[in-house]
Amino acid sequence: MAFCNLCQDRGVIVQNDLAVICSCRRQRTLVNRLKESGIPLRMQACNFADFNFKYYSRKNIDTAKGTTFYELAKITFKAAKDFVVHFKQNNYLDGLFLTGPVGSGKTFLACCIANALIKEGYQVLFIVVPDLLDQLRATYEPGRLPGEDTEAGILAKAQKTPLLILDDLGAHNYTEWTRNKLYSIFNYRLNHCLPLIITSNIKLEDLEDYLGERTTSRIYQICRPYRLLTEVDIRMVQRGEKN
Ligand SMILES: Nc1ncnc2c1ncn2[C@@H]1O[C@H](COP(=O)(O)OP(=O)(O)OP(=O)(O)O)[C@@H](O)[C@H]1O
Ligand SMILES: [Mg+2]
Ligand SMILES: [Zn+2]
Repeated sequence: MAFCNLCQDRGVIVQNDLAVICSCRRQRTLVNRLKESGIPLRMQACNFADFNFKYYSRKNIDTAKGTTFYELAKITFKAAKDFVVHFKQNNYLDGLFLTGPVGSGKTFLACCIANALIKEGYQVLFIVVPDLLDQLRATYEPGRLPGEDTEAGILAKAQKTPLLILDDLGAHNYTEWTRNKLYSIFNYRLNHCLPLIITSNIKLEDLEDYLGERTTSRIYQICRPYRLLTEVDIRMVQRGEKN
């Protein structure tokens, strides 16, 4: 029995004497792109329309900038939407460095960008930094099979994907080895004009303490810093709303 009643699984249907790709095939490639993107299932539903500004205070002021949390969120949100537009126009564009406290919407917004682009046919790679470092370390474990990911393969994927999202570039214990791996990703993307979106709990100006000067300097060159500030973790607020 055919999976699709429209095209009988041929993938093509005839419409007004023209062969067009059947919706089932388009749907499946979208599903594949989502799967390959590495975006966690729960975040695959994030979209700009659901980004709620009520979590960002109109009274609290970021003393460094003299801007309210609400205004900051508006600026950051606009930068995220603009990013999507410029990416589609294939303009060379600055990436985003999204910082803010725990549960302030950084990953949510990064996934809004990713999902919007994936829906339009672009390939995006979403990587959680601690997971990436674990995967790289695992390639050195004995007894690996020939078909399994190699260090070079994992790095090449992160280096070459059209859009890379590095989630949670946090205050982990970076060793000289892990710093070098991250450096190789940033350096490649910088040299090949490939954009990058980073989420982090660390301010860009404090990043050097964790990643060193060479890497931080490259991040400065490819990403523009934006902040999302909240008084309370949005996860807690939403938990309260549910109860
Ligand atoms: N602006 C928003 N509108 C609606 N829901 C939001 C918003 N921001 C965050 N959320 C919700 O709060 C949850 C936590 O947000 P998110 O994962 O983006 O936090 P984060 O800033 O990345 O935190 P962490 O530093 O812990 O990684 C999300 O899964 C989402 O459900
Ligand atoms: Mg996050
Ligand atoms: Zn079909």
